Parts: sequence; structure tokens; C-alpha cells
Amino acid sequence: METLTIVHSRGWDGTYPPEEAARAVGALEDGSVIVLPDLAFPMSDEERRLLDPRILAKAKNVSYNPASGRLGGTSCTGAEAEVLRLLIARYSESARSLVNGLFPAYRASIRLQRTSLRPAEIAGRASSWRKDDTRLHVDAFPSNPVRGDRIIRVFCNVNPSNRPRVWRLGEPFERVAERFAPGIPRPLPGSAAVLHLLRITKRRRSEYDHIMVGLHDAMKADDAYQSSTGTEPIEFNPGTTWITFSDSVSHAALSGQHQFEQTFSLPVSGMADEGKSPLRILERMKGRVLV
Ligand code: SIN
Ligand code: FE
Repeated sequence: METLTIVHSRGWDGTYPPEEAARAVGALEDGSVIVLPDLAFPMSDEERRLLDPRILAKAKNVSYNPASGRLGGTSCTGAEAEVLRLLIARYSESARSLVNGLFPAYRASIRLQRTSLRPAEIAGRASSWRKDDTRLHVDAFPSNPVRGDRIIRVFCNVNPSNRPRVWRLGEPFERVAERFAPGIPRPLPGSAAVLHLLRITKRRRSEYDHIMVGLHDAMKADDAYQSSTGTEPIEFNPGTTWITFSDSVSHAALSGQHQFEQTFSLPVSGMADEGKSPLRILERMKGRVLV
């Protein structure tokens, strides 16, 4: 399996020949990062002035909810906030259109989730190990259980000073699971109900979510693992768009500033081969249903 699969862009609204779309879906499900090195996100001068950490409130990202049209995490107000909102909304629409064009097989079941703009430099940002995305990890949402659904993310580097976003990629999900899942204790009986009751989680945390959060934490906490695993740094230059299943593809973002990100969810039944999902891989390992 190739770590990266290069696709030549046909634009944000492009359609792809069936063989190319099938190759892209197969590579994505096998754990490859789909890279479109020539898919830049166009921005006006007014919009480019918003590429500045000053637009952040407290969090490290500005977030946008396409379902409500609401923006979060920004210090911008008034007309400037509206320019920012429309900018992120346009990225969200573009990412949706790209995914529909490149992965027509997912069209019936894929769902648009949150969008983010990440204007802060990653390198040297002080944070706890659990929040430190410079460490290899798979994505899992502690407060927002996915109950087996896949997480697909579309990233675009929009750095105006020609600086790459630098990632490292880790081992295939099966190996991450073999290494770390046996050490994750089963959830305490009743704990999912308590987390939900206390509104720590938005829905009931399934055992699948429990294991995924456990994998995320166990990977990041293991210094020896971090220094012994993973690829050499990979540079995504400005004007590059890339797509991956971030729940199974182990990744670390080492440095870079200014990127967009759109999250999608996909039920495993919407995959070309759901046997490749983390849910089914973990269920085979554990020999029981996890959702
Ligand atoms: C992450 O998902 O770990 C961070 C990716 C990035 O911001 O480049
Ligand atoms: Fe991540």
C-alpha cells in the first residue's frame, strides 16, 4: 500500500472517470492519503488578510457549522466576521463538491460535519500530550461519539508565505490496534450512561468510541513509540489539498500555519469494503460487537 496516492485535480467541482474514482476510493479505504498537489483554494486579498492568528479567540481553530451557518472560536466581529464566515462556508462547499466528484460511491451516505480554519503555527505550541497533534495518533472525538462511523477529512494548505504543512504518518491501523488495544481496559459498567448524563459526551459512548479514544491517548502517551515509528516528514505545499480517513490513518502534524479542514462522517455501510474500517478490524480482534 502506498502512503500517498497522487490524484491530478480536475478542480473543486470536477468529475473523475469511473476507473480513477474507483482507484481513489480503494486507496483511501486502504489507508492512503489522497493528495491533489495542484488544487489551491482561491482567496481574495480581503480574505487573505484574515490569515492571521489574531482572528482566533481562545481555541487554536476557527470552527464553522455548515448545518447552522454559525461560526465559533473567532475574535472577529461585525463585517469582518461575516467575511470570515463566508470564506469558511465557501471552503466547506468546495470540499463537499470535491468529495462528491472524487468519491461518487459515498454520495448517498456521506455527511458533512464541521469545518475549521487553522491560522496558528503548530510547531512549538505548548500543549498537554493529549492535545499535542505533533505526536502520531488516530483521530477520536472524546465528547462526540461516532458509534462506528468513519471520519474523513479534507485539508488544504493556504499558507501565504509559501511554507509547507509538515506531517508524519505512522503504521497501518491493524498494527496500531494490535499494539495498543489489548492494554485498554473495558469501560466500567454504566460509565457510558454517566458520561452522557453529565453531558461529557453528546451521545452514548459506544465501546468502539471507548477503544478509539484509548488508542488516541495510548499512542500519544508512548514516547518510545513516537520516536521509533513513522515516516520521514512529508511536506504538503501551499496549493495542495489532501484527504484521508483520519480515524485509521495515524498522523502527526509537525509544523505549518494556515490551513482549512473539512470533516465528513460516513457510516461503515457506505464504504466500498467495510471490512477495512476500524470498527470491523477491532470487532474481529475482540470477537464481539462494539456498537
Ligand atoms: C491533526 O488532525 O492531527 C492535525 C492536522 C493538521 O492540523 O494539519
Ligand atoms: Fe489528528
